[in-house]
Amino acid sequence: MSKIVIAGNWKMKKGLEDIRAFCKAIVSSLMARDMAGVMPILAPSYPFLDLMQGELKGSPVKIAAQDVSSHPAGAFTGEVSAAMLSSLGLEYSIVGHSERRAHHDESNELVREKLLMLMDNGIKPILCIGETLLQRDGGSTKEVILEQLDGCLRNVNIYNAENIMIAYEPVWAIGTGRTATGEQAQEVHRIIRSWLNNTYNQAIADEIVILYGGSVKPENLAGLLAMPDIDGGLIGGASLQADKYLKMIDIALESRK
Ligand code: 13P
Repeated sequence: MSKIVIAGNWKMKKGLEDIRAFCKAIVSSLMARDMAGVMPILAPSYPFLDLMQGELKGSPVKIAAQDVSSHPAGAFTGEVSAAMLSSLGLEYSIVGHSERRAHHDESNELVREKLLMLMDNGIKPILCIGETLLQRDGGSTKEVILEQLDGCLRNVNIYNAENIMIAYEPVWAIGTGRTATGEQAQEVHRIIRSWLNNTYNQAIADEIVILYGGSVKPENLAGLLAMPDIDGGLIGGASLQADKYLKMIDIALESRK
Protein backbone atom coordinates (compact mmCIF):
# COMPACT_ATOMS: atom_id res chain seq x y z
CA MET A 1 0.00 0.00 0.00
CA SER A 2 1.47 3.35 -0.98
CA LYS A 3 1.66 6.27 1.41
CA ILE A 4 -1.16 8.79 1.69
CA VAL A 5 0.05 12.07 0.25
CA ILE A 6 -0.98 15.35 1.84
CA ALA A 7 0.26 17.94 -0.64
CA GLY A 8 -0.17 21.67 -0.13
CA ASN A 9 -0.20 23.88 -3.22
CA TRP A 10 0.46 27.37 -1.92
CA LYS A 11 -0.05 29.03 -5.32
CA MET A 12 1.08 32.70 -5.18
CA LYS A 13 -0.10 33.16 -1.61
CA LYS A 14 2.86 32.96 0.78
CA GLY A 15 5.85 35.26 1.18
CA LEU A 16 9.09 34.96 3.11
CA GLU A 17 8.04 35.74 6.67
CA ASP A 18 4.84 33.75 6.39
CA ILE A 19 6.80 30.74 5.12
CA ARG A 20 9.37 30.95 7.89
CA ALA A 21 6.61 31.06 10.50
CA PHE A 22 4.79 28.11 8.90
CA CYS A 23 7.91 25.94 8.80
CA LYS A 24 8.69 26.77 12.42
CA ALA A 25 5.15 25.85 13.41
CA ILE A 26 5.19 22.40 11.78
CA VAL A 27 8.74 21.12 11.93
CA SER A 28 8.96 19.85 15.50
CA SER A 29 5.45 18.41 15.57
CA LEU A 30 6.08 16.51 12.35
CA MET A 31 9.36 15.12 13.65
CA ALA A 32 7.52 13.92 16.77
CA ARG A 33 5.01 11.88 14.73
CA ASP A 34 5.50 8.43 13.25
CA MET A 35 4.97 9.40 9.63
CA ALA A 36 5.50 5.95 8.13
CA GLY A 37 2.17 5.92 6.27
CA VAL A 38 1.93 9.54 5.16
CA MET A 39 3.99 11.72 2.85
CA PRO A 40 3.66 15.48 3.32
CA ILE A 41 4.51 17.69 0.33
CA LEU A 42 4.49 21.48 0.16
CA ALA A 43 4.73 23.58 -3.00
CA PRO A 44 5.80 27.20 -2.42
CA SER A 45 6.59 29.78 -5.11
CA TYR A 46 9.97 29.42 -6.85
CA PRO A 47 11.98 31.90 -4.75
CA PHE A 48 11.33 29.95 -1.55
CA LEU A 49 12.06 26.38 -2.70
CA ASP A 50 15.61 26.34 -1.49
CA LEU A 51 14.82 28.18 1.73
CA MET A 52 12.08 25.71 2.59
CA GLN A 53 14.34 22.75 1.97
CA GLY A 54 16.67 24.24 4.56
CA GLU A 55 13.95 25.12 7.06
CA LEU A 56 12.42 21.63 6.86
CA LYS A 57 15.64 19.67 6.64
CA GLY A 58 15.44 16.42 8.56
CA SER A 59 11.63 16.49 8.52
CA PRO A 60 9.54 14.15 6.35
CA VAL A 61 8.25 17.04 4.19
CA LYS A 62 9.11 16.96 0.49
CA ILE A 63 9.25 20.28 -1.32
CA ALA A 64 7.68 20.61 -4.77
CA ALA A 65 7.72 23.26 -7.47
CA GLN A 66 4.39 24.50 -8.87
CA ASP A 67 5.41 24.52 -12.53
CA VAL A 68 8.39 24.20 -14.87
CA SER A 69 9.48 25.50 -18.25
CA SER A 70 9.02 23.26 -21.29
CA HIS A 71 12.42 24.50 -22.54
CA PRO A 72 15.73 23.01 -21.42
CA ALA A 73 17.62 26.34 -21.19
CA GLY A 74 18.13 29.60 -23.05
CA ALA A 75 16.55 32.99 -23.66
CA PHE A 76 13.26 32.45 -21.84
CA THR A 77 12.96 35.35 -19.44
CA GLY A 78 11.02 34.51 -16.31
CA GLU A 79 11.08 30.75 -16.81
CA VAL A 80 12.67 28.10 -14.60
CA SER A 81 14.07 24.90 -16.10
CA ALA A 82 13.72 21.35 -14.83
CA ALA A 83 17.51 21.15 -14.58
CA MET A 84 17.48 24.14 -12.22
CA LEU A 85 14.83 22.50 -10.04
CA SER A 86 16.79 19.29 -10.09
CA SER A 87 19.97 21.10 -9.05
CA LEU A 88 18.14 22.10 -5.85
CA GLY A 89 17.51 18.43 -5.15
CA LEU A 90 13.76 18.69 -5.67
CA GLU A 91 11.90 15.43 -6.13
CA TYR A 92 8.46 16.71 -7.21
CA SER A 93 6.77 19.36 -9.31
CA ILE A 94 3.13 20.10 -10.02
CA VAL A 95 2.43 20.35 -13.75
CA GLY A 96 -0.70 21.17 -15.76
CA HIS A 97 -2.60 22.87 -12.94
CA SER A 98 -5.96 24.16 -14.16
CA GLU A 99 -4.94 27.72 -13.26
CA ARG A 100 -2.01 27.42 -15.68
CA ARG A 101 -4.28 25.90 -18.30
CA ALA A 102 -6.85 28.70 -17.84
CA HIS A 103 -4.63 31.78 -17.38
CA HIS A 104 -1.67 30.77 -19.52
CA ASP A 105 -3.43 28.75 -22.19
CA GLU A 106 -1.49 25.58 -21.41
CA SER A 107 -2.57 22.77 -23.72
CA ASN A 108 -2.27 19.06 -23.04
CA GLU A 109 0.62 19.02 -25.52
CA LEU A 110 2.51 21.72 -23.60
CA VAL A 111 1.81 19.97 -20.30
CA ARG A 112 3.21 16.79 -21.84
CA GLU A 113 6.41 18.59 -22.87
CA LYS A 114 6.82 19.97 -19.35
CA LEU A 115 6.14 16.57 -17.84
CA LEU A 116 8.78 14.93 -20.03
CA MET A 117 11.24 17.68 -19.13
CA LEU A 118 10.67 16.94 -15.44
CA MET A 119 11.04 13.19 -15.88
CA ASP A 120 14.19 13.61 -17.96
CA ASN A 121 15.65 15.53 -15.05
CA GLY A 122 14.66 13.00 -12.43
CA ILE A 123 11.77 15.03 -11.00
CA LYS A 124 8.44 13.34 -10.39
CA PRO A 125 5.51 15.20 -11.93
CA ILE A 126 2.24 15.68 -10.08
CA LEU A 127 0.04 15.88 -13.17
CA CYS A 128 -3.20 17.81 -12.68
CA ILE A 129 -6.30 17.05 -14.72
CA GLY A 130 -9.96 17.91 -14.26
CA GLU A 131 -13.12 19.10 -15.94
CA THR A 132 -14.84 22.49 -15.80
CA LEU A 133 -18.39 22.94 -14.51
CA LEU A 134 -19.64 23.41 -18.06
CA GLN A 135 -18.07 20.11 -19.07
CA ARG A 136 -19.49 18.28 -16.04
CA ASP A 137 -22.97 19.74 -16.56
CA GLY A 138 -22.70 18.86 -20.24
CA GLY A 139 -22.02 15.21 -19.31
CA SER A 140 -18.52 15.12 -20.78
CA THR A 141 -16.44 14.58 -17.62
CA LYS A 142 -15.19 11.14 -18.64
CA GLU A 143 -14.35 12.27 -22.17
CA VAL A 144 -12.40 15.30 -20.89
CA ILE A 145 -10.45 13.22 -18.36
CA LEU A 146 -9.52 10.61 -20.99
CA GLU A 147 -8.53 13.34 -23.46
CA GLN A 148 -6.27 14.95 -20.84
CA LEU A 149 -4.70 11.60 -19.93
CA ASP A 150 -4.15 10.70 -23.59
CA GLY A 151 -2.79 14.17 -24.40
CA CYS A 152 -0.49 14.59 -21.41
CA LEU A 153 0.81 11.02 -21.20
CA ARG A 154 0.93 10.04 -24.87
CA ASN A 155 3.93 7.70 -25.36
CA VAL A 156 5.24 8.60 -21.93
CA ASN A 157 6.99 5.60 -20.43
CA ILE A 158 6.20 5.04 -16.80
CA TYR A 159 8.47 2.23 -15.71
CA ASN A 160 7.86 2.74 -12.04
CA ALA A 161 4.60 3.90 -10.49
CA GLU A 162 6.58 6.01 -8.04
CA ASN A 163 7.82 8.25 -10.86
CA ILE A 164 4.56 10.17 -11.24
CA MET A 165 1.40 11.16 -9.38
CA ILE A 166 -1.89 12.22 -10.88
CA ALA A 167 -4.13 14.81 -9.24
CA TYR A 168 -7.80 14.90 -10.17
CA GLU A 169 -8.90 18.48 -9.58
CA PRO A 170 -12.37 19.33 -10.86
CA VAL A 171 -12.10 23.01 -11.79
CA TRP A 172 -15.52 23.78 -10.30
CA ALA A 173 -14.34 22.61 -6.87
CA ILE A 174 -11.12 24.66 -6.74
CA GLY A 175 -11.27 27.57 -4.31
CA THR A 176 -15.07 27.50 -4.43
CA GLY A 177 -15.80 25.69 -1.19
CA ARG A 178 -17.77 23.25 -3.33
CA THR A 179 -16.04 19.90 -2.88
CA ALA A 180 -16.78 16.90 -5.04
CA THR A 181 -18.47 14.25 -2.92
CA GLY A 182 -16.37 11.19 -2.14
CA GLU A 183 -18.49 9.27 -4.64
CA GLN A 184 -18.05 11.86 -7.43
CA ALA A 185 -14.29 11.89 -6.92
CA GLN A 186 -14.10 8.10 -6.63
CA GLU A 187 -15.94 7.70 -9.94
CA VAL A 188 -13.29 9.74 -11.76
CA HIS A 189 -10.38 8.17 -9.90
CA ARG A 190 -11.67 4.77 -11.05
CA ILE A 191 -11.76 6.02 -14.65
CA ILE A 192 -8.15 7.17 -14.29
CA ARG A 193 -7.06 3.82 -12.87
CA SER A 194 -8.74 1.86 -15.59
CA TRP A 195 -7.10 4.11 -18.23
CA LEU A 196 -3.73 3.40 -16.57
CA ASN A 197 -4.45 -0.31 -16.65
CA ASN A 198 -5.35 -0.21 -20.35
CA THR A 199 -2.39 2.00 -21.26
CA TYR A 200 0.31 0.55 -19.01
CA ASN A 201 -0.47 -2.45 -16.83
CA GLN A 202 -2.33 -3.54 -13.72
CA ALA A 203 0.63 -2.98 -11.37
CA ILE A 204 1.13 0.62 -12.56
CA ALA A 205 -2.63 1.24 -12.33
CA ASP A 206 -2.80 -0.14 -8.79
CA GLU A 207 0.26 1.67 -7.48
CA ILE A 208 0.15 5.16 -8.98
CA VAL A 209 -0.86 7.70 -6.36
CA ILE A 210 -4.00 9.55 -7.43
CA LEU A 211 -4.75 12.66 -5.40
CA TYR A 212 -8.00 14.56 -5.21
CA GLY A 213 -7.93 18.37 -5.15
CA GLY A 214 -10.67 20.96 -4.83
CA SER A 215 -11.76 22.53 -1.51
CA VAL A 216 -10.22 19.74 0.57
CA LYS A 217 -10.17 20.67 4.26
CA PRO A 218 -10.01 18.92 7.64
CA GLU A 219 -13.80 18.55 7.65
CA ASN A 220 -14.04 16.54 4.42
CA LEU A 221 -10.67 14.81 4.14
CA ALA A 222 -11.55 11.62 6.04
CA GLY A 223 -14.56 11.00 3.79
CA LEU A 224 -12.44 11.41 0.67
CA LEU A 225 -9.66 9.17 1.97
CA ALA A 226 -12.22 6.47 2.75
CA MET A 227 -12.70 5.99 -1.00
CA PRO A 228 -10.72 3.04 -2.41
CA ASP A 229 -9.01 4.96 -5.24
CA ILE A 230 -8.21 8.24 -3.44
CA ASP A 231 -4.62 8.24 -2.17
CA GLY A 232 -4.41 11.74 -0.76
CA GLY A 233 -5.14 15.40 -1.39
CA LEU A 234 -3.69 18.30 -3.34
CA ILE A 235 -4.82 21.11 -1.14
CA GLY A 236 -4.85 24.86 -1.72
CA GLY A 237 -6.57 27.13 0.82
CA ALA A 238 -6.62 24.75 3.79
CA SER A 239 -2.89 24.04 3.47
CA LEU A 240 -1.96 27.66 4.12
CA GLN A 241 -2.52 27.45 7.86
CA ALA A 242 -0.09 25.32 9.85
CA ASP A 243 -2.72 24.06 12.30
CA LYS A 244 -5.04 22.94 9.51
CA TYR A 245 -2.20 21.31 7.61
CA LEU A 246 -1.12 19.37 10.71
CA LYS A 247 -4.72 18.39 11.34
CA MET A 248 -4.95 16.96 7.82
CA ILE A 249 -1.74 15.00 8.38
CA ASP A 250 -3.29 13.54 11.52
CA ILE A 251 -6.48 12.63 9.67
CA ALA A 252 -4.38 10.87 7.03
CA LEU A 253 -2.40 9.02 9.73
CA GLU A 254 -5.66 8.01 11.39
CA SER A 255 -7.07 6.74 8.10
CA ARG A 256 -4.15 4.30 7.80
CA LYS A 257 -4.98 2.57 11.08
P1 13P B 1 -8.38 24.67 -2.97
O1 13P B 1 -8.05 23.59 -1.99
O2 13P B 1 -8.15 26.05 -2.42
O3 13P B 1 -9.75 24.48 -3.55
O4 13P B 1 -7.34 24.53 -4.18
C1 13P B 1 -7.15 23.29 -4.78
C2 13P B 1 -6.00 23.36 -5.71
O5 13P B 1 -6.05 24.04 -6.72
C3 13P B 1 -4.79 22.61 -5.37
O6 13P B 1 -3.92 22.53 -6.45
